[in-house]
Amino acid sequence: MNDAPKPLGLSNGLTNYGDQDFARYLRLSMARAMGYSSSLLQKPVVGIASTYSEFNNCHRGVPELVTAVKRGVLAAGGLPLEFPTISLGEVFLNPTSLFFRNLMSMDTEEMIKGQPMDAVVLVGGCDKTVPAQLMGAVSAGLPTVQVVTGPMMTGRWRGERLGACTDCRRFWARFRAGDIDGETIREVEGNLATTAGTCAVMGTASTMASLAEALGIMLPGTAAIPAVHADRIRAAEASGAAAMELIRAGTTIRDVITPKSVENALRVLLAIGGSTNAIIHLTAIAGRAGIEIDLRRLNELSDTTPVLVDLKPTGSFYMEDLYAAGGIGAVMRELKPLLHLDCLTVSGETLGARLEGSSGFVDRAVIRSLDNPLQPQGGLVALFGDLAPRGAILKRAAADPKLFEKEGRAVVFTSLEDLSARIDDPDLDVRADDFLVLQNAGPLSPSGMPEAGYIPIPQKLAQAGVKDMVRISDARMSGTAYGTIVLHVTPDAASGGPLGLVRTGDRIRLSVETRRIDLLVDEIEMATRRATTIPITANPTRGYARLYSREVLLADQGCDFDFLLATPQKD
Ligand code: FES
Repeated sequence: MNDAPKPLGLSNGLTNYGDQDFARYLRLSMARAMGYSSSLLQKPVVGIASTYSEFNNCHRGVPELVTAVKRGVLAAGGLPLEFPTISLGEVFLNPTSLFFRNLMSMDTEEMIKGQPMDAVVLVGGCDKTVPAQLMGAVSAGLPTVQVVTGPMMTGRWRGERLGACTDCRRFWARFRAGDIDGETIREVEGNLATTAGTCAVMGTASTMASLAEALGIMLPGTAAIPAVHADRIRAAEASGAAAMELIRAGTTIRDVITPKSVENALRVLLAIGGSTNAIIHLTAIAGRAGIEIDLRRLNELSDTTPVLVDLKPTGSFYMEDLYAAGGIGAVMRELKPLLHLDCLTVSGETLGARLEGSSGFVDRAVIRSLDNPLQPQGGLVALFGDLAPRGAILKRAAADPKLFEKEGRAVVFTSLEDLSARIDDPDLDVRADDFLVLQNAGPLSPSGMPEAGYIPIPQKLAQAGVKDMVRISDARMSGTAYGTIVLHVTPDAASGGPLGLVRTGDRIRLSVETRRIDLLVDEIEMATRRATTIPITANPTRGYARLYSREVLLADQGCDFDFLLATPQKD
């Protein structure tokens, strides 16, 4: 903890007119125009980063949460001031929301630093918003509390429970296989996402909410509260009050996000069978504090962290069930022997103090005990080898173990366009035991690392009943997806990585046991291919796209921009 700095409120960071007293006088006179009393304008200021947008269905509840945060700040003796930032609605953005994550983090950082506030409450939710907010907030370095919008409730359709978006994929796969018709899929479409909030399963948004709680930057017990539950509004109010306490204690985000709390977050990620995207986001958040995440360390943690939570896409239940079952607090109590308990949290207590006592009721169908896990090892594993010298990720909790030790023939798609043009071609030369390989979908590709790693099973194989195949790419995968899917192959094809040199007919060997993914092509042939292959890269000439293509780092560095890291890595 730092020595408590004197809260400065609106006297923070005065506008530069060359006369500080004039700047303060002018600021207060303009603030008076908003109807505040002069006594309120003397209070410590808590900024509230609002991400409400009509292009973001997951954030429909943000205005109500911001109102509650304000109530908490006012009751604790502060002045709450809401400000907007970029909002990233996962399915409304082109080319991908990840492409804009760093832009949002820059917006968040600069608005926290540029405006007069003593603390900040971040209100986010959809996949990339929480990572962007935390990345920006770590760089800004103020006392910080994260609030999330919370998960959607499930809906009902013909007696079946549906929730975005594992069920979206399940029904789409059935539609592609000819199992259900167009009218039925349109009916399903209207019943997948029926309330405000983020996707109802342990997708990327729910994973990042869980990790925020594990990091200690969110109030205990608040990650899984459904978006429409009154507890969520109470959590927002309490978060406003907590921000005021952090100001008084002088506790900044850097006191909370530390190497130990990052490791705790990795343990929780593995135990909840969380999204592969979280590896990239947590690496980027940690990178802003100068903390490195080593994928080999991830494997060590994965070997000793069991999967405890039975949520879709890897299991059976939804986020509302996790909340009712005891939430992330109950998960962390099970993991207690594996966690660093001296980490500070935004509640003002250490993690150890927070986890003292019992969880109360825990539904063991949803949250298993440490001695009776769903799986003995963690949900994610990093692979290395000839094909991925700097690593790749496999969500083994969502994969078919029968495919874990396997050699197969590569069927290569050179781009997303090539994939969509040929994957359902009845003449495509593909068999169920082939490995599907997608190139040029990584961070440096023109497509900006989309969630395209969930390569569809070729239609003719899907119709023949094939449910899973080994699929390999430099893309990402939605946290709601599942299958034996090797992602984030690094370096990516567009950087000249070996993935870009794979040709249809090559043999590839996957071994989850030895953590390897190897291309069985001799070095002489690889050298020839390297000399004759021109990587497909994006070369935008202006604007943010140009900044992105020049500065983005690869997946093992969180796809952050080089110049935003705590310690820049390039000249
Ligand atoms: Fe926002 Fe899934 S679309 S969390």
